[in-house]
Amino acid sequence: MSGVRQRGLCWRCAQGHVGAMQETLVSIWTRTRRTLEAAGVEFPVNEARLLVEAGVGVSRLDIITDPRRPISDAQAANVTALAERREAREPMAYILGRKSFWTLDLEVNADVLAPRPETELLVEFALGHLNTDAPARVLDLGVGSGAILLAILSDRPRAEGVGIDSSVGALAVARANAERIGVAGRATFIHSNWWRDVEGAFDLIVSNPPYIPTADIAGLQPEVALYEPKLALDGGEDGLDAYRAILDGLASRLRPGGVFALEVGQGQAEAVAALAIDHGFRVGPHRLDLAGIPRVVTGKLTGPD
Ligand SMILES: C[S@@+](CC[C@H](N)C(=O)[O-])C[C@H]1O[C@@H](n2cnc3c(N)ncnc32)[C@H](O)[C@@H]1O
Repeated sequence: MSGVRQRGLCWRCAQGHVGAMQETLVSIWTRTRRTLEAAGVEFPVNEARLLVEAGVGVSRLDIITDPRRPISDAQAANVTALAERREAREPMAYILGRKSFWTLDLEVNADVLAPRPETELLVEFALGHLNTDAPARVLDLGVGSGAILLAILSDRPRAEGVGIDSSVGALAVARANAERIGVAGRATFIHSNWWRDVEGAFDLIVSNPPYIPTADIAGLQPEVALYEPKLALDGGEDGLDAYRAILDGLASRLRPGGVFALEVGQGQAEAVAALAIDHGFRVGPHRLDLAGIPRVVTGKLTGPD
């Protein structure tokens, strides 16, 4: 981005004497928007506003109701630094350090996948399966930021949850989010390679595992390919490695009547359902996302309900 000050009319008197033009909320918003447009980001107007809010320390209302409010050089430099990160296509969630998911405002960093809106389908299924007043034990395999598990625990006050991940950094983020949301007393986080260190049985087992075929990762949008943890993306040669590992251990960890729900990538639902049936499960109807893509494969053990 260009420097934070421009030559031009004096901002105080609007006279044509030579002087540094004062940056205002609207001028830095416009400049940031142009930078993001040139970098090819998808929503430059909105994102530029969010960067101004974060860099200056103002609200959306401040920008809209008082656009000509002058900002200091230090504030302008903050916005410029944030815009340069976004210009390099770092995800907004990492730059802002937070991401909304379900009803939660989660802290995120580069150790975790930024939770996606389609994953809320999995939460919706889970909540439909758990009674509001009944105790239940929930397991989230590959808990990441804690998005799925913490959304469930925050809406089901009698549920207890275990979140496992093989990333120590991700577990630290999930723990911190559990504390902030106020459910840490009902959540346990375990460092584990899938089932290796999981104990006990569960009423509900959920997972949004890594499912991108290895060879496809480099071709994803730069925000994902360059910044999100490979461990959260890489599903092996056909994208299904994690489903095989999860389904191998699933039957012995489900309580009688228990169910599982697995998020899947586009075009993977039938293959994952077939794997689940091979492992002795009865598969339910797939849950479709807003684009009509099957996104969640659900099932339970065969036999009497
Ligand atoms: C796609 S991310 C999902 C994160 C979070 N559940 C969500 O939906 O936003 C997959 C997660 O699985 C974890 N993971 C990958 N391989 C694993 C393994 N072998 N054992 C446990 N967790 C693993 C990653 O570290 C990552 O946090």
